[in-house]
Amino acid sequence: MSLLVPTELSGCAEKLIRGRHATRAFRPEAVPEDTMRAIFSLAGAAPSNSNAQPWRVEVVSGAARERLADALQEAHAAHRTSADFPYSEDMYAPVHQERRAAFGARLYGALGIGPDDHEARAAYDAQSLRFYGAPHAAFLFVTGDGGPRLAADAGAYLQTLLLAMTAYGVASCPQGLLSFYADTVRAELAVTTGRLLVGISFGYADEAAPVNHVTTERAALEEVAIFHG
Ligand SMILES: Cc1cc2nc3c(=O)[nH]c(=O)nc-3n(C[C@H](O)[C@H](O)[C@H](O)COP(=O)(O)O)c2cc1C
Repeated sequence: MSLLVPTELSGCAEKLIRGRHATRAFRPEAVPEDTMRAIFSLAGAAPSNSNAQPWRVEVVSGAARERLADALQEAHAAHRTSADFPYSEDMYAPVHQERRAAFGARLYGALGIGPDDHEARAAYDAQSLRFYGAPHAAFLFVTGDGGPRLAADAGAYLQTLLLAMTAYGVASCPQGLLSFYADTVRAELAVTTGRLLVGISFGYADEAAPVNHVTTERAALEEVAIFHG
């Protein structure tokens, strides 16, 4: 018999954590400045090794967002990619590839893009460099030497930020794709330190967009958590 007793806090956590989804269509309204400040203040409560907090976010809105979206699309068209963190398909195990393919089938299926329509997929991805229409984007830089150990701290910051947004009714999409244009982001925002890990588009969700109703599954508990003792 299960002795699990849900508490008020666990109920809230279930709602918050399971209530966050990657959003790929946004309404144009801006997030008010006080909400924005509350979200980023809360995200700062993320844990890090020895409390070093080796991260920095650069947030773009308004004209700065427009300029950056244009610059990203230009960089993309000119194949001017520059990633601070190396990327290779080989980093994924076969089981990861299966999960990625299942996700891709759902996402592109919802968009009416067929599995072999590489051109349409590429066009959709290129368009996503305009932040899926979100009025804001945050760029998460790992500071210090920007190495993988510090990237783990920045990962904790990322999830805390996404949950803080969810708590304030703000939808988001973390976009690794944005990190492939690190030099463009740096140049546009006059950034001189840190390595770009990921970008996060955010704003209010367009609930009417079918793409925002794509659901994702997770591996079974037994596949990811081993309990010893
Ligand atoms: C580090 C990271 C990078 C991601 N990069 C992208 C991206 O470039 N484009 C995109 O549409 N979604 C991206 N996502 C969103 C994932 O596809 C999404 O989180 C995953 O499919 C699970 O769905 P859910 O967030 O709705 O639970 C990224 C997520 C993370 C955490």
